[in-house]
Amino acid sequence: MKNDIKKAVIPVAGFGTRLLPATKAQPKEMLPIVDKPAVQYVVEEAVQSGVENILLVTGRNKRAIEDYFDYAVELERELEEKGKTELLNVVRNVSEMVSIYYVRQKIAKGLGDAIYHAKGFVNGEPFGVLLADDIIDSEVPCLKQMTDVYKEHPGVILAVMKVPMRDTKLYGIIEGKRIGDRLYEVKDLVEKPEPMKAPSNIAIVGRYILTPSIFESLEKTLPGKNGEVQITDAIRNLLIKEKVYAYEFEGTRFDVGEKLGYLKANVAFALKNKELGEKFKKYLKEILQ
Ligand code: G1P
Repeated sequence: MKNDIKKAVIPVAGFGTRLLPATKAQPKEMLPIVDKPAVQYVVEEAVQSGVENILLVTGRNKRAIEDYFDYAVELERELEEKGKTELLNVVRNVSEMVSIYYVRQKIAKGLGDAIYHAKGFVNGEPFGVLLADDIIDSEVPCLKQMTDVYKEHPGVILAVMKVPMRDTKLYGIIEGKRIGDRLYEVKDLVEKPEPMKAPSNIAIVGRYILTPSIFESLEKTLPGKNGEVQITDAIRNLLIKEKVYAYEFEGTRFDVGEKLGYLKANVAFALKNKELGEKFKKYLKEILQ
């Protein structure tokens, strides 16, 4: 099997209910974190991790995402004529940074079903999955950290972090045996268990390296939590024939699919922004006094 992860899948078909009404008529993935839409952070992470081809699994009302990664002919002409070269480069770079493909999930049947739409695109190779609700701020891109783990431990790799026990019902939770500094061999995993039933407080975040056998497993996976086909269940069904590892990534994860996480991400990235950081910090200090 190939050792490099050159393909990634980004499911973007979700409704964004936790961010309503902002997401009533626009995709949540297009809401800006400082000056870039959320989805761009995730695409950039994939590119910086060595990914060359990305499949976006979209749904209805998501066309703005396709337009965003396309050329903006009139806008570019206007910027060119006005000599705004710097902005022109920024805008053009968005459409040229990587090859992006699209497929539409016609019915929202769950994350597992969304990922199943990538079967043809993936074509027998291991691949990354990045959930656009999870934005990870780290020195080494999270998916790159995971591809490094994959080279040593070929198999399924899940990014994980410890969460307060009361929050297990928000995540896929693993039961694992620690085999390295940040690494676990996964023995079991369960989607969104109540704290009483959770095998640990080690939660899956939205980064996966999957092997092509996931598609066979997905074909046999019945709807689970919330009546949806869950990727967690499909990975669980793989445990009998494949190694699954959980890797505690280095970095900070923001859940930008909900209001507080979205605000936190904006503050964190604004403070790090070259142009805005200092001024923004000064402002924050002022209003907090
Ligand atoms: C999904 C997965 C869950 C995982 C989470 C990470 O849930 O099903 O296992 O822990 O992403 O963000 P969602 O948050 O989309 O409901």
